[in-house]
Amino acid sequence: MKKYRVAIVGLGRMASTIDQEVVDYPAITLPYSIAASCQQIEKAELVAGADILPEKLKAFGERWEVKALYEDYLEMIKQEEPDMVAICTKGEIHAEMAVKVAETGVPMMYVEKAMACSMKEADVVLEACQNNNTLFNTGVLRRFDSRYHKAKELMDAGEIGQIKSIIHFGSTNLMHGHIHSIDTIMYLLGDPVAESVWGELRPRSLEIKNNRLDKDPSAIYHIAFDNGTEAWTIPSGMWDFEIWGTGGSIRGMNNGIEWTIRKTYKINDKRAIFRESTYPEYKAYSATAACLEDLIEAYEQKRPTLGNVEVTHRATELCLAIAESHRTGKRVNLPLDNKELYVWHV
Ligand SMILES: NC(=O)c1ccc[n+]([C@@H]2O[C@H](COP(=O)([O-])OP(=O)(O)OC[C@H]3O[C@@H](n4cnc5c(N)ncnc54)[C@H](O)[C@@H]3O)[C@@H](O)[C@H]2O)c1
Repeated sequence: MKKYRVAIVGLGRMASTIDQEVVDYPAITLPYSIAASCQQIEKAELVAGADILPEKLKAFGERWEVKALYEDYLEMIKQEEPDMVAICTKGEIHAEMAVKVAETGVPMMYVEKAMACSMKEADVVLEACQNNNTLFNTGVLRRFDSRYHKAKELMDAGEIGQIKSIIHFGSTNLMHGHIHSIDTIMYLLGDPVAESVWGELRPRSLEIKNNRLDKDPSAIYHIAFDNGTEAWTIPSGMWDFEIWGTGGSIRGMNNGIEWTIRKTYKINDKRAIFRESTYPEYKAYSATAACLEDLIEAYEQKRPTLGNVEVTHRATELCLAIAESHRTGKRVNLPLDNKELYVWHV
Protein backbone atom coordinates (compact mmCIF):
# COMPACT_ATOMS: atom_id res chain seq x y z
CA MET A 1 0.00 0.00 0.00
CA LYS A 2 1.26 3.45 -0.93
CA LYS A 3 2.02 5.63 2.09
CA TYR A 4 1.81 9.36 1.42
CA ARG A 5 4.53 11.51 2.97
CA VAL A 6 3.08 14.32 5.12
CA ALA A 7 5.07 17.37 6.26
CA ILE A 8 3.75 20.06 8.63
CA VAL A 9 4.57 23.78 8.77
CA GLY A 10 4.00 25.48 12.15
CA LEU A 11 4.38 22.92 14.92
CA GLY A 12 2.02 24.32 17.57
CA ARG A 13 -1.42 23.34 18.80
CA MET A 14 -3.21 22.31 15.62
CA ALA A 15 -0.13 20.59 14.26
CA SER A 16 0.77 18.69 17.37
CA THR A 17 -0.63 19.33 20.84
CA ILE A 18 -4.34 20.23 20.63
CA ASP A 19 -5.69 16.77 21.48
CA GLN A 20 -4.82 17.19 25.14
CA GLU A 21 -7.02 20.34 25.31
CA VAL A 22 -10.19 18.49 24.29
CA VAL A 23 -9.96 15.19 26.12
CA ASP A 24 -13.45 14.63 27.64
CA TYR A 25 -15.11 17.10 25.21
CA PRO A 26 -17.38 14.90 23.07
CA ALA A 27 -17.88 17.61 20.43
CA ILE A 28 -14.43 16.64 19.15
CA THR A 29 -13.64 13.09 18.12
CA LEU A 30 -9.94 12.41 18.51
CA PRO A 31 -7.45 12.44 16.90
CA TYR A 32 -7.61 16.21 16.42
CA SER A 33 -4.09 17.40 15.56
CA ILE A 34 -2.59 16.79 12.14
CA ALA A 35 0.25 14.72 13.62
CA ALA A 36 -2.09 12.52 15.68
CA SER A 37 -4.39 12.08 12.68
CA CYS A 38 -1.46 10.94 10.51
CA GLN A 39 -0.88 8.13 12.99
CA GLN A 40 -4.47 6.93 12.50
CA ILE A 41 -4.51 7.16 8.70
CA GLU A 42 -3.16 3.99 7.10
CA LYS A 43 -2.06 5.73 3.93
CA ALA A 44 -0.29 8.64 5.66
CA GLU A 45 3.17 8.85 7.14
CA LEU A 46 4.35 11.91 9.06
CA VAL A 47 7.89 12.54 7.80
CA ALA A 48 8.89 16.14 8.55
CA GLY A 49 8.14 19.37 10.38
CA ALA A 50 9.14 23.02 10.07
CA ASP A 51 8.95 25.83 12.62
CA ILE A 52 10.91 29.03 13.20
CA LEU A 53 11.18 28.24 16.94
CA PRO A 54 13.84 25.68 17.97
CA GLU A 55 11.85 24.63 21.05
CA LYS A 56 8.83 23.76 18.88
CA LEU A 57 11.03 21.70 16.55
CA LYS A 58 12.52 19.82 19.48
CA ALA A 59 9.18 19.10 21.19
CA PHE A 60 7.58 18.00 17.93
CA GLY A 61 10.52 15.76 16.99
CA GLU A 62 10.45 14.05 20.38
CA ARG A 63 6.67 13.67 20.58
CA TRP A 64 6.19 12.21 17.08
CA GLU A 65 9.62 10.64 16.55
CA VAL A 66 10.26 12.76 13.47
CA LYS A 67 13.90 13.39 12.60
CA ALA A 68 13.53 15.64 9.53
CA LEU A 69 13.14 19.04 11.24
CA TYR A 70 13.64 22.40 9.52
CA GLU A 71 13.49 26.10 10.29
CA ASP A 72 12.72 26.87 6.65
CA TYR A 73 9.59 25.17 5.31
CA LEU A 74 10.58 25.59 1.67
CA GLU A 75 13.90 23.87 2.36
CA MET A 76 11.92 21.08 4.08
CA ILE A 77 9.80 20.60 0.95
CA LYS A 78 12.89 20.61 -1.28
CA GLN A 79 14.73 18.03 0.81
CA GLU A 80 11.85 15.77 1.89
CA GLU A 81 9.62 15.86 -1.21
CA PRO A 82 6.34 15.38 0.72
CA ASP A 83 3.10 14.36 -1.01
CA MET A 84 1.09 16.53 1.38
CA VAL A 85 1.93 19.71 3.28
CA ALA A 86 -0.21 20.91 6.21
CA ILE A 87 0.11 24.63 6.93
CA CYS A 88 -0.68 25.15 10.62
CA THR A 89 0.71 28.64 11.19
CA LYS A 90 -1.40 31.67 12.16
CA GLY A 91 -3.87 33.33 9.79
CA GLU A 92 -1.94 36.30 8.43
CA ILE A 93 0.62 34.05 6.68
CA HIS A 94 -1.73 31.30 5.43
CA ALA A 95 -2.17 32.83 1.97
CA GLU A 96 1.51 33.58 1.38
CA MET A 97 2.53 30.08 2.47
CA ALA A 98 -0.27 28.37 0.52
CA VAL A 99 0.87 30.06 -2.69
CA LYS A 100 4.53 29.13 -2.12
CA VAL A 101 3.66 25.52 -1.26
CA ALA A 102 1.40 25.18 -4.34
CA GLU A 103 4.21 26.55 -6.52
CA THR A 104 6.59 23.81 -5.31
CA GLY A 105 4.28 21.29 -7.00
CA VAL A 106 3.28 19.42 -3.80
CA PRO A 107 0.05 17.68 -4.92
CA MET A 108 -1.97 17.85 -1.65
CA MET A 109 -2.27 20.76 0.76
CA TYR A 110 -4.09 21.30 4.06
CA VAL A 111 -4.28 24.97 5.07
CA GLU A 112 -5.56 26.16 8.40
CA LYS A 113 -8.51 28.51 8.21
CA ALA A 114 -9.09 31.13 7.11
CA MET A 115 -7.19 30.84 3.80
CA ALA A 116 -6.62 34.60 3.52
CA CYS A 117 -7.23 38.00 5.15
CA SER A 118 -8.53 39.68 1.96
CA MET A 119 -10.01 38.61 -1.37
CA LYS A 120 -6.91 39.96 -3.08
CA GLU A 121 -4.91 37.33 -1.18
CA ALA A 122 -7.59 34.64 -1.64
CA ASP A 123 -7.57 35.20 -5.42
CA VAL A 124 -3.83 34.54 -5.54
CA VAL A 125 -4.23 31.29 -3.57
CA LEU A 126 -7.06 30.19 -5.87
CA GLU A 127 -4.97 30.89 -8.95
CA ALA A 128 -1.86 29.16 -7.55
CA CYS A 129 -3.83 25.99 -6.68
CA GLN A 130 -5.60 25.96 -10.04
CA ASN A 131 -2.37 26.52 -12.00
CA ASN A 132 -0.52 23.80 -10.10
CA ASN A 133 -3.43 21.31 -9.74
CA THR A 134 -3.00 21.41 -5.97
CA LEU A 135 -5.67 19.51 -4.07
CA PHE A 136 -6.76 21.70 -1.19
CA ASN A 137 -8.71 21.39 2.06
CA THR A 138 -8.85 23.77 5.03
CA GLY A 139 -9.44 23.26 8.75
CA VAL A 140 -13.19 23.95 8.64
CA LEU A 141 -13.68 20.57 10.19
CA ARG A 142 -17.47 20.24 10.56
CA ARG A 143 -17.50 19.73 6.77
CA PHE A 144 -15.56 16.51 7.40
CA ASP A 145 -17.41 15.44 10.57
CA SER A 146 -19.53 12.28 10.28
CA ARG A 147 -22.27 13.82 12.46
CA TYR A 148 -22.79 16.69 10.02
CA HIS A 149 -22.59 14.16 7.18
CA LYS A 150 -25.52 12.28 8.79
CA ALA A 151 -27.56 15.51 9.01
CA LYS A 152 -26.87 16.23 5.35
CA GLU A 153 -27.77 12.66 4.41
CA LEU A 154 -31.16 13.13 6.13
CA MET A 155 -31.67 16.50 4.43
CA ASP A 156 -30.76 15.06 1.01
CA ALA A 157 -33.11 12.11 1.58
CA GLY A 158 -36.00 14.58 2.02
CA GLU A 159 -36.59 13.69 5.70
CA ILE A 160 -37.49 17.33 6.52
CA GLY A 161 -38.93 18.27 3.14
CA GLN A 162 -37.57 21.05 0.98
CA ILE A 163 -34.80 22.94 2.77
CA LYS A 164 -35.59 26.60 3.42
CA SER A 165 -33.11 27.98 5.91
CA ILE A 166 -30.34 27.32 8.41
CA ILE A 167 -29.70 29.22 11.62
CA HIS A 168 -26.41 29.12 13.46
CA PHE A 169 -26.39 29.92 17.19
CA GLY A 170 -23.14 31.12 18.73
CA SER A 171 -21.25 34.31 19.49
CA THR A 172 -17.98 34.33 17.60
CA ASN A 173 -15.57 36.43 15.62
CA LEU A 174 -15.64 36.84 11.88
CA MET A 175 -12.59 35.22 10.27
CA HIS A 176 -11.67 32.76 13.00
CA GLY A 177 -15.17 31.65 14.03
CA HIS A 178 -17.70 32.47 11.31
CA ILE A 179 -15.55 30.91 8.62
CA HIS A 180 -16.61 27.70 10.41
CA SER A 181 -20.31 28.60 10.72
CA ILE A 182 -20.51 29.76 7.09
CA ASP A 183 -18.61 26.78 5.74
CA THR A 184 -20.84 24.38 7.70
CA ILE A 185 -23.97 26.08 6.35
CA MET A 186 -22.60 25.95 2.81
CA TYR A 187 -21.72 22.27 3.19
CA LEU A 188 -25.17 21.34 4.55
CA LEU A 189 -26.91 23.23 1.74
CA GLY A 190 -24.76 21.55 -0.95
CA ASP A 191 -22.40 24.50 -1.48
CA PRO A 192 -24.78 26.87 -3.29
CA VAL A 193 -23.46 30.19 -4.56
CA ALA A 194 -24.33 33.16 -2.33
CA GLU A 195 -26.07 36.07 -4.05
CA SER A 196 -25.98 38.68 -1.29
CA VAL A 197 -25.13 39.19 2.36
CA TRP A 198 -25.99 41.59 5.14
CA GLY A 199 -23.62 41.81 8.06
CA GLU A 200 -22.85 43.79 11.15
CA LEU A 201 -19.71 43.79 13.27
CA ARG A 202 -19.64 44.22 17.02
CA PRO A 203 -19.51 46.68 18.58
CA ARG A 204 -21.84 48.37 16.08
CA SER A 205 -19.78 51.55 16.41
CA LEU A 206 -16.65 49.77 15.12
CA GLU A 207 -15.09 51.78 12.29
CA ILE A 208 -13.10 50.17 9.50
CA LYS A 209 -10.38 52.70 8.77
CA ASN A 210 -8.31 52.60 5.56
CA ASN A 211 -10.14 49.45 4.43
CA ARG A 212 -8.40 47.44 7.13
CA LEU A 213 -9.16 45.86 10.51
CA ASP A 214 -6.22 44.70 12.61
CA LYS A 215 -8.41 42.63 14.90
CA ASP A 216 -11.03 39.98 14.25
CA PRO A 217 -14.41 41.36 15.42
CA SER A 218 -17.58 39.52 16.44
CA ALA A 219 -20.16 39.52 13.68
CA ILE A 220 -23.71 38.65 12.69
CA TYR A 221 -25.05 37.99 9.21
CA HIS A 222 -27.86 37.06 6.88
CA ILE A 223 -26.98 35.27 3.62
CA ALA A 224 -29.20 34.70 0.57
CA PHE A 225 -28.12 31.81 -1.68
CA ASP A 226 -28.93 31.38 -5.37
CA ASN A 227 -31.03 28.26 -4.73
CA GLY A 228 -33.47 30.29 -2.62
CA THR A 229 -32.18 29.11 0.76
CA GLU A 230 -31.18 31.58 3.49
CA ALA A 231 -28.91 31.55 6.52
CA TRP A 232 -28.66 33.59 9.72
CA THR A 233 -26.49 33.62 12.80
CA ILE A 234 -27.74 34.47 16.28
CA PRO A 235 -24.95 35.77 18.53
CA SER A 236 -25.64 33.49 21.51
CA GLY A 237 -25.87 29.76 22.08
CA MET A 238 -23.65 26.70 21.96
CA TRP A 239 -22.78 26.29 18.28
CA ASP A 240 -26.16 24.80 17.47
CA PHE A 241 -27.20 24.58 13.82
CA GLU A 242 -30.94 24.46 13.10
CA ILE A 243 -32.01 23.43 9.62
CA TRP A 244 -35.60 24.18 8.63
CA GLY A 245 -37.44 22.44 5.81
CA THR A 246 -41.05 22.40 4.65
CA GLY A 247 -41.54 19.08 6.46
CA GLY A 248 -39.56 19.45 9.68
CA SER A 249 -36.27 20.47 11.21
CA ILE A 250 -32.93 19.04 12.28
CA ARG A 251 -30.97 20.56 15.13
CA GLY A 252 -27.36 19.85 16.03
CA MET A 253 -26.83 20.99 19.62
CA ASN A 254 -23.88 21.73 21.89
CA ASN A 255 -21.42 21.87 19.02
CA GLY A 256 -22.71 18.66 17.46
CA ILE A 257 -22.86 16.52 20.60
CA GLU A 258 -26.64 15.96 20.39
CA TRP A 259 -28.97 15.88 17.40
CA THR A 260 -32.76 15.97 17.09
CA ILE A 261 -35.15 15.72 14.18
CA ARG A 262 -38.74 16.92 14.01
CA LYS A 263 -41.06 15.76 11.27
CA THR A 264 -44.56 16.60 10.07
CA TYR A 265 -47.26 15.08 12.28
CA LYS A 266 -50.96 15.46 11.48
CA ILE A 267 -52.91 16.44 14.58
CA ASN A 268 -56.26 16.51 12.73
CA ASP A 269 -57.65 16.70 9.18
CA LYS A 270 -56.81 20.39 8.91
CA ARG A 271 -53.55 20.86 10.76
CA ALA A 272 -50.07 19.41 11.04
CA ILE A 273 -47.27 20.23 13.46
CA PHE A 274 -43.59 19.26 13.64
CA ARG A 275 -43.06 16.58 16.28
CA GLU A 276 -39.82 15.07 17.55
CA SER A 277 -38.94 11.78 15.90
CA THR A 278 -36.12 9.28 16.49
CA TYR A 279 -32.77 10.52 15.27
CA PRO A 280 -30.95 7.75 13.40
CA GLU A 281 -27.76 6.13 14.67
CA TYR A 282 -24.49 7.68 13.60
CA LYS A 283 -20.87 6.98 14.32
CA ALA A 284 -18.52 9.77 15.38
CA TYR A 285 -15.19 9.84 13.52
CA SER A 286 -12.21 12.18 13.66
CA ALA A 287 -12.94 15.12 11.36
CA THR A 288 -9.23 15.93 10.94
CA ALA A 289 -8.49 12.36 9.85
CA ALA A 290 -11.49 12.48 7.48
CA CYS A 291 -10.23 15.78 6.01
CA LEU A 292 -6.75 14.39 5.31
CA GLU A 293 -8.24 11.12 4.00
CA ASP A 294 -10.44 13.14 1.66
CA LEU A 295 -7.29 14.75 0.22
CA ILE A 296 -5.71 11.33 -0.34
CA GLU A 297 -8.85 9.81 -1.85
CA ALA A 298 -9.32 12.83 -4.10
CA TYR A 299 -5.71 12.42 -5.27
CA GLU A 300 -6.12 8.72 -5.95
CA GLN A 301 -9.55 9.08 -7.57
CA LYS A 302 -8.62 12.24 -9.51
CA ARG A 303 -11.64 14.09 -8.11
CA PRO A 304 -12.04 17.46 -6.34
CA THR A 305 -11.73 17.55 -2.56
CA LEU A 306 -14.79 18.18 -0.38
CA GLY A 307 -13.43 21.55 0.78
CA ASN A 308 -11.78 22.45 -2.51
CA VAL A 309 -10.16 25.81 -3.14
CA GLU A 310 -13.14 27.22 -5.09
CA VAL A 311 -15.57 26.45 -2.23
CA THR A 312 -13.13 27.83 0.35
CA HIS A 313 -12.63 30.97 -1.73
CA ARG A 314 -16.42 31.53 -1.68
CA ALA A 315 -16.69 30.97 2.11
CA THR A 316 -13.84 33.46 2.63
CA GLU A 317 -15.58 35.95 0.35
CA LEU A 318 -18.74 35.68 2.46
CA CYS A 319 -16.81 36.51 5.64
CA LEU A 320 -15.21 39.55 4.04
CA ALA A 321 -18.54 40.63 2.52
CA ILE A 322 -19.97 40.73 6.06
CA ALA A 323 -17.24 43.22 6.99
CA GLU A 324 -17.93 45.16 3.78
CA SER A 325 -21.64 45.32 4.63
CA HIS A 326 -20.76 46.75 8.05
CA ARG A 327 -18.32 49.23 6.45
CA THR A 328 -20.83 50.51 3.90
CA GLY A 329 -23.98 50.09 6.00
CA LYS A 330 -25.59 48.28 3.05
CA ARG A 331 -26.43 44.78 1.91
CA VAL A 332 -23.63 43.52 -0.37
CA ASN A 333 -24.09 41.68 -3.65
CA LEU A 334 -21.52 39.04 -4.53
CA PRO A 335 -18.93 38.73 -5.92
CA LEU A 336 -17.32 41.22 -3.59
CA ASP A 337 -15.91 44.26 -5.42
CA ASN A 338 -13.74 45.47 -2.55
CA LYS A 339 -10.88 42.98 -2.91
CA GLU A 340 -8.49 45.06 -0.78
CA LEU A 341 -10.60 44.94 2.40
CA TYR A 342 -8.35 43.24 4.95
CA VAL A 343 -9.41 41.60 8.23
CA TRP A 344 -6.63 40.18 10.40
CA HIS A 345 -7.23 36.88 12.21
CA VAL A 346 -5.34 34.29 14.24
N1 LIG B 1 -9.43 23.85 12.66
C1 LIG B 1 -9.39 23.89 13.96
O1 LIG B 1 -10.20 23.27 14.64
C2 LIG B 1 -8.30 24.69 14.62
C3 LIG B 1 -7.99 24.53 15.96
C4 LIG B 1 -6.94 25.29 16.49
C5 LIG B 1 -6.26 26.20 15.69
N2 LIG B 1 -6.63 26.34 14.40
C6 LIG B 1 -5.92 27.28 13.50
O2 LIG B 1 -4.61 26.78 13.31
C7 LIG B 1 -3.71 27.86 13.10
C8 LIG B 1 -2.57 27.71 14.10
O3 LIG B 1 -3.09 27.88 15.38
P1 LIG B 1 -2.35 27.23 16.64
O4 LIG B 1 -3.21 27.56 17.80
O5 LIG B 1 -1.98 25.83 16.35
O6 LIG B 1 -1.05 28.16 16.67
P2 LIG B 1 0.31 27.95 17.45
O7 LIG B 1 0.82 29.30 17.80
O8 LIG B 1 0.16 26.94 18.54
O9 LIG B 1 1.27 27.33 16.33
C9 LIG B 1 1.69 28.06 15.22
C10 LIG B 1 3.17 27.73 14.99
O10 LIG B 1 3.59 28.33 13.75
C11 LIG B 1 4.95 28.68 13.91
N3 LIG B 1 5.36 29.60 12.85
C12 LIG B 1 5.13 30.94 12.74
N4 LIG B 1 5.70 31.42 11.62
C13 LIG B 1 6.29 30.38 11.00
C14 LIG B 1 7.06 30.25 9.80
N5 LIG B 1 7.30 31.31 9.01
N6 LIG B 1 7.51 29.03 9.45
C15 LIG B 1 7.27 27.94 10.24
N7 LIG B 1 6.56 28.02 11.40
C16 LIG B 1 6.09 29.21 11.76
C17 LIG B 1 5.03 29.26 15.30
O11 LIG B 1 6.34 29.30 15.81
C18 LIG B 1 4.11 28.28 16.07
O12 LIG B 1 4.86 27.21 16.64
C19 LIG B 1 -4.53 29.14 13.29
O13 LIG B 1 -4.88 29.64 12.04
C20 LIG B 1 -5.77 28.68 14.03
O14 LIG B 1 -6.90 29.45 13.70
C21 LIG B 1 -7.62 25.61 13.86
